[in-house]
Amino acid sequence: MKPLVVIAGAIHPDGMKQLEPEARVIVTDQVTEEGMIEVAREAEGILFRIRPDCTRALMTACSRLKVIGRHGVGLDTVDLKAATDLGIAVVHAPGSNSDSVAEHALMLILACAKQTLDVDRMTRKAEWRRPPKGNMELKGKTLGIVGVGNIGRRMARLGHALGMRVIGYDKYVPDEEVRARGAEPLPDLYSVLSEADVVTCHTPHTPETHHMIDGKAVAKMKDGVIFVNTAGLRRQPAAEPAQCRRQLAHGGGHGGDRTRDGHAGDGRDAAGAPGRKAARARQSRPLAQARASPVMLGKLWFWPKLAHLR
Ligand SMILES: NC(=O)c1ccc[n+]([C@@H]2O[C@H](COP(=O)([O-])OP(=O)(O)OC[C@H]3O[C@@H](n4cnc5c(N)ncnc54)[C@H](O)[C@@H]3O)[C@@H](O)[C@H]2O)c1
Repeated sequence: MKPLVVIAGAIHPDGMKQLEPEARVIVTDQVTEEGMIEVAREAEGILFRIRPDCTRALMTACSRLKVIGRHGVGLDTVDLKAATDLGIAVVHAPGSNSDSVAEHALMLILACAKQTLDVDRMTRKAEWRRPPKGNMELKGKTLGIVGVGNIGRRMARLGHALGMRVIGYDKYVPDEEVRARGAEPLPDLYSVLSEADVVTCHTPHTPETHHMIDGKAVAKMKDGVIFVNTAGLRRQPAAEPAQCRRQLAHGGGHGGDRTRDGHAGDGRDAAGAPGRKAARARQSRPLAQARASPVMLGKLWFWPKLAHLR
């Protein structure tokens, strides 16, 4: 009998065509560990998309399991130690979605630089005026890439295409290779953060990168920096949400307690806490917030808001 393969979420029909001659395939929309175990108890292979996590308990319960696949890139949802202990192979598809993610990151950078959401909203209301925060021209500005891997190197190409200076930091790629990938290598994260007008983060989620962009990191960034975090939509691994939100809601980099560019003082009350005016400004200017906030760009709710743009 052909082996049973369970797929956690539909995949492209071409993928199904390749798989079906080799295996009995079940596609499930189970997103919980219990639900997945129920479906995959006899499976020899499981292909995960985003949910559920592939835990030790799940692997142990599926006693015939030989291989775990991740549809896409990033293995942070798989308990690799457990897989190793249990002799289960783990595979993923490096490079498979790098162009797509780089295009998304570029879209977010441009949307922030050009205030796309504000302009769209104003146009729909027939308000023919400049967007409240003005535009940023990217040509001549500095693009900082954190993690110059498959996606990061594509971002370097896109940055050059826009006429930007491209700098990068990668802890594990030698300087020569970072240079070959199109970025000027800088010795550490903070050097990139303090020089870049636009920062884009493309590291995997590891204990080392978890909340790598914390309050201290934000404080190194320039005023009005655009920060894009596509390094993990689900877990926001690179950015520490609460602290960044606090600091960036006050106006972007260089420490949340200092008054700086246009939006710094917006609506802070006397004690320096964001007041009602700031809350209103956030509601009515999501792009401005996105421009300053790593949190917003990592949030799933952001995507539907862009979906209507043609
Ligand atoms: N948003 C999405 O839809 C989406 C899709 C695919 C991948 N991703 C995320 O993007 C990440 C990167 O993908 P990729 O294909 O470019 O991976 P990759 O492995 O090719 O590149 C990651 C780079 O980060 C570097 N790195 C690791 N730890 C670092 C650290 N502490 N400091 C600096 N650099 C570090 C690595 O050396 C590597 O060069 C994935 O791990 C995943 O989390 C997101």
